[in-house]
Amino acid sequence: MRIELYHASKYGNGAKVADEFKRVMEARGHQVNVYHIDEARAKELPPADLYVFGSGTRMGKPSGNMRRFVKKANLPPGTKYAIFATHIRETPDKKTGKVPTEEEMERWRRTIPILCEILNGKGLVKVADKIIFVREMKGPLEEGWQGRVAELADAVASRS
Ligand SMILES: Cc1cc2nc3c(=O)[nH]c(=O)nc-3n(C[C@H](O)[C@H](O)[C@H](O)COP(=O)(O)O)c2cc1C
Repeated sequence: MRIELYHASKYGNGAKVADEFKRVMEARGHQVNVYHIDEARAKELPPADLYVFGSGTRMGKPSGNMRRFVKKANLPPGTKYAIFATHIRETPDKKTGKVPTEEEMERWRRTIPILCEILNGKGLVKVADKIIFVREMKGPLEEGWQGRVAELADAVASRS
């Protein structure tokens, strides 16, 4: 498979995820080209068997530049895609010590559903998605992150 991966990493965590995904998929004989969206033109994406989009999160949503990028992406209906989002892990409230529940965190983790809505609206077909956690607002990635990237790679390989 030829895979084109576009990410919008600001602090480098998503860029690490992208490089690890490339390493794992290339070890399996696939070709993966990785770009930051700032160095790509959404209307002129090269042909590929699968596109991967990766974004961090701002107030529960994908970064604005990633949203604009996928809106502009010029890809025919039926094109396959996968998504990863980097999210902050839930931490205890500094005053109360209470850890938010998964449901409470859900509204701060809308990156994947929002990007999927845009891409599905263009007729693209999702094969896999994955959340990768960071420990603090700007990283680093949570321990075991490589395992989650491997799960994404497995899902992509088995469904493409
Ligand atoms: C202003 C700001 C708001 C953020 N809001 C959220 C949020 O609502 N939900 C979340 O999971 N992470 C949030 N984060 C953490 C980002 O998800 C994190 O910085 C990003 O995933 C790191 O990836 P990158 O290094 O590839 O940019 C926020 C970070 C910043 C700086």
